[in-house]
Amino acid sequence: MNRLVIIGTGGHGRVIADLAVKNGYTNICFIDDYATGACLGFPIIGTCDHIEDENDGETDFIIGIGNNSTRKEISEKHKVNWATIIHPSAQIAVGVSIGKGTAIMACAVVNACASVGNHCIINTGAVVEHDNIIDDYVHISPKAVLGGTVHIGKCTHIGIGATVSNNIDICSDCTVGAGALVVKNIAEKGIYVGLPVRKMR
Ligand SMILES: CC(C)(COP(=O)(O)OP(=O)(O)OC[C@H]1O[C@@H](n2cnc3c(N)ncnc32)[C@H](O)[C@@H]1OP(=O)(O)O)[C@@H](O)C(=O)NCCC(=O)NCCS
Repeated sequence: MNRLVIIGTGGHGRVIADLAVKNGYTNICFIDDYATGACLGFPIIGTCDHIEDENDGETDFIIGIGNNSTRKEISEKHKVNWATIIHPSAQIAVGVSIGKGTAIMACAVVNACASVGNHCIINTGAVVEHDNIIDDYVHISPKAVLGGTVHIGKCTHIGIGATVSNNIDICSDCTVGAGALVVKNIAEKGIYVGLPVRKMR
């Protein structure tokens, strides 16, 4: 577990690089369709077309791209060893399961018996309370708080600082806006904002 290829040199990819260093990866490089040269001193070795070329069976890969659909698309295309990366300051409780390709950022809390799917982002300082079920490709933004026994469907984005009350079910392909408050189930995909949330479109 020494070599890590990070796909994407944007903001999220660069935060992943910091996690990689803190997780003991010593051979870190980037793949990016739009950038060349180096990023944070780590080489950019090619575009997404070259992912398979780097797959020697020993290298780990992670998608450092914040857009949920893009992570889904890339991960479905390539069969490689997707790494799960957790910042050392994150609090992961007993009975938690975390899928492959998922990143848990600094000071996030994932409490007892929660399950986090594949290629998710639990961002800086987010709280995922006990018994949550977070499906694949979900992004829980910085400082968002999910009460106990919440279910978040595939590809849904919970915005920065949003709050979801306990026992709430939010379906796939939703965006819950920054600072929003969810107190009832959301069963229809769309963008929801406000306190409590209303569908925006
Ligand atoms: C909800 C969201 C997706 C809407 O984006 P958008 O479609 O580009 O919307 P706009 O910025 O054009 O705003 C449209 C209207 O909605 C309002 N609005 C936008 N986001 C809002 C929010 N989170 N809460 C309340 N109102 C909001 C705007 O003030 C604007 O109102 P107006 O028409 O009266 O001026 C976006 O604002 C948001 O909250 N994204 C989450 C960002 C985030 O968490 N990032 C984390 C990255 S780590």
